[in-house]
Amino acid sequence: MKTVLVLNGPNLNLLGTREPQVYGSQTLADVQALCERAAEVHNLQLDFRQSNHEGELVDWIHEAGRAQAAGTLAGVILNAGAYTHTSIALHDAIKGAGVTLIELHISNVHAREAFRHRSYISPVARAVMAGFGVNGYVLAIAGLAQLAEQR
Ligand code: DQA
Repeated sequence: MKTVLVLNGPNLNLLGTREPQVYGSQTLADVQALCERAAEVHNLQLDFRQSNHEGELVDWIHEAGRAQAAGTLAGVILNAGAYTHTSIALHDAIKGAGVTLIELHISNVHAREAFRHRSYISPVARAVMAGFGVNGYVLAIAGLAQLAEQR
């Protein structure tokens, strides 16, 4: 059984209490439970992580590249939070690791402030999911499972 790695960046540990009008009232633990169920449906094993530190996310993407090359990983779903809009390091890590990655946002970043319209992740992502609320994680796992089957 292959693994799906779900990575969450800065401030996503505050889900549930952080701007609920934008991100909803479900916590990160609730999101993890949703992902567990979705992974099970698609016969994938879930590895779910969160970090507020850019370098840790870089290390995890490198690790994912090695796992995908070894045939144990279906791919990565990344909600990089604000690092989406700033991080050349994450862009380079995804490119360098050669990992299949879906960029995810709970909110529709394109309908928000102009500084959220630019993504350093999109050019190196296989697909992008935004604006479906936390259910986007479920949809992204389904999409990744389909991509992995096609490979
Ligand atoms: C986010 C959107 C980002 O602009 C923001 O910085 C986040 C969350 C989302 O899930 O909608 O932290 O990635």
